[in-house]
Amino acid sequence: MKVFVSRSIPMSGVDFLRSKGVEVKVWDKGQPTIEEIELSCKDCNGLISMLSDNIDEKFLKRNSHLKVISNYAVGYNNIDISAAKSLGMKVGNTPDILTEATADMAFTLMLAVARNLFSSNQSIREGNWTTWEPKGHLGIQLKGKTIGIVGMGRIGAEMARKCKGAYGMNVLYTSRTAKSTIEEELGAKKVSFEELLEKSDVVSIHTDLNAETRGIFNKGAFGRMKSTAIFVNTARGGVCVEKDLVEALKKGELYGAGLDVTDPEPMDISSPLLEMSQVVITPHIGSATFEAREGMSMICGENIWRGLNGQKLLAEV
Ligand code: DGY
Repeated sequence: MKVFVSRSIPMSGVDFLRSKGVEVKVWDKGQPTIEEIELSCKDCNGLISMLSDNIDEKFLKRNSHLKVISNYAVGYNNIDISAAKSLGMKVGNTPDILTEATADMAFTLMLAVARNLFSSNQSIREGNWTTWEPKGHLGIQLKGKTIGIVGMGRIGAEMARKCKGAYGMNVLYTSRTAKSTIEEELGAKKVSFEELLEKSDVVSIHTDLNAETRGIFNKGAFGRMKSTAIFVNTARGGVCVEKDLVEALKKGELYGAGLDVTDPEPMDISSPLLEMSQVVITPHIGSATFEAREGMSMICGENIWRGLNGQKLLAEV
């Protein structure tokens, strides 16, 4: 049995597969093109793909010999799942293990924006710390404010817990289904998307990117938010129309934004977002802790092993 891993990842999953006698080829030259992935997959039964690999219907049809694909991510918007299923391939992902890390990132971005962490640090580097400023770098206190969670899945719930635990924040959320356990635990309230936008002091996105959620944060949505609100996105850049976010920030329709994801990725370094002092951007590092990334590797290894043996995956999409 042979497996291709499209980037160099922490070794636990690779070692696990090798210990079972599987031949594992790891691509260690940065992001491969889709042609390079295809060439490398020619003689493989399994693929560990990255969220930056576009595993579309065309690729899947040309590689229908693959029995199983495991995405090294919880999100799988880069894979055409229905095409994979119709070709009889199993697809896995890496939920749970990265929940804590990603919620930490959302919380970090919220605080960084609220307290002007990036712009105040930048001002020192630019030589502007000349005296203590009684009115300099004023930020927002989060205690008792309202957090609006868009998508109350595992990561959304963990972010809500952190906000409630640290600052007693009121929790509003949108979700396809009501989450009674979270409602009981945190006093969270399910509301319409519009109500969430209008009432939240921080809006944090934790939804998948799909046909329904693409571009839901647009001119209209930003226009409904409080001018003192903080927008946090650790989910997928495509949920937000970036030019509308730029306009809203320029017009002062929002206080600021904390973004771990952009559209496209990597972002264009001439983006006006990088010029804005009230914006904090990180390069899609939500799951980037040693613990989460090693665990993701192990889950991918398990998914692939089970798929190669015709079993249900540990985490099957
Ligand atoms: C995921 O797993 O989908 C995350 O975006 C990775 O950080």
